[in-house]
Amino acid sequence: MKFSKPEWHAQLSSTNTVISQRLREGEPLPDGFVLAAHEQTAGRGRLGRSWQSKVGHNLTFSFLLHRINDLSQMMSLPMAVAIAVAVIMEQYSVEVQTKWPNDLLIKKRKICGILSERFQMDAIVVGVGINVNMCREDADQIDPPATSLLIETGQRLIIEELLARLLTTMEVWVQRWRKAGFSALRSAWIERCFNLGEYIQVGDGDNPKMGILVGFGDEGQLLLREDDGRQVEIWAGDLITQTNTNDLIVT
Ligand code: BTN
Repeated sequence: MKFSKPEWHAQLSSTNTVISQRLREGEPLPDGFVLAAHEQTAGRGRLGRSWQSKVGHNLTFSFLLHRINDLSQMMSLPMAVAIAVAVIMEQYSVEVQTKWPNDLLIKKRKICGILSERFQMDAIVVGVGINVNMCREDADQIDPPATSLLIETGQRLIIEELLARLLTTMEVWVQRWRKAGFSALRSAWIERCFNLGEYIQVGDGDNPKMGILVGFGDEGQLLLREDDGRQVEIWAGDLITQTNTNDLIVT
């Protein structure tokens, strides 16, 4: 697959929202279409949260994929994107961890978030937010405190150049995912995986479950061994690290 040359805007509400609006209005956006904004006025995160970013500090973009025939495979597409972002970040000599379902952490602090949204039956919009040139003061104000490439490497990057490099690597990982789903990602995900083998809490707020993160199923769903020894599959939600029974940390 090939991504299009990114369509850059100074300001948009949210790159995910605008792609969906344009599709709804009947615009024939191609497979691999990329929309990027220097500033988002209504950036959205997962589970109804907002995503804050400042001009020149963050990379915020979304892309569109058509012809997603196998919907069960959809869950692992953002995982493929997370791995591509991790691979690019590792070129700056930082140690990146993947956090299920599709966050990236450095030293337990979030540096990248991904929001994937299905559009009609067979299209998907994937939005990526990366903290690039965010200073420590701003990162500390996020709840929970985040980090950025500037903080971790001392290097200030040109956002457009970073996106161009990232798209090349993403093409490789998205293509692997299209051919083989999560099985093409499993080892890359596992080798960077945060909390694997640890006691965690996971869920979408209504029905949180606790247990040991023992691995991932064929579609990238999280496998949790509960206290009674039963293994359950978790398909959506947030992962919370449990350091002791009274002390849960959302990372
Ligand atoms: C999360 O971690 O909750 C997901 C964050 C996703 C943020 C990106 S920024 C580009 C795209 N547009 C949005 O409104 N959200 C995503």
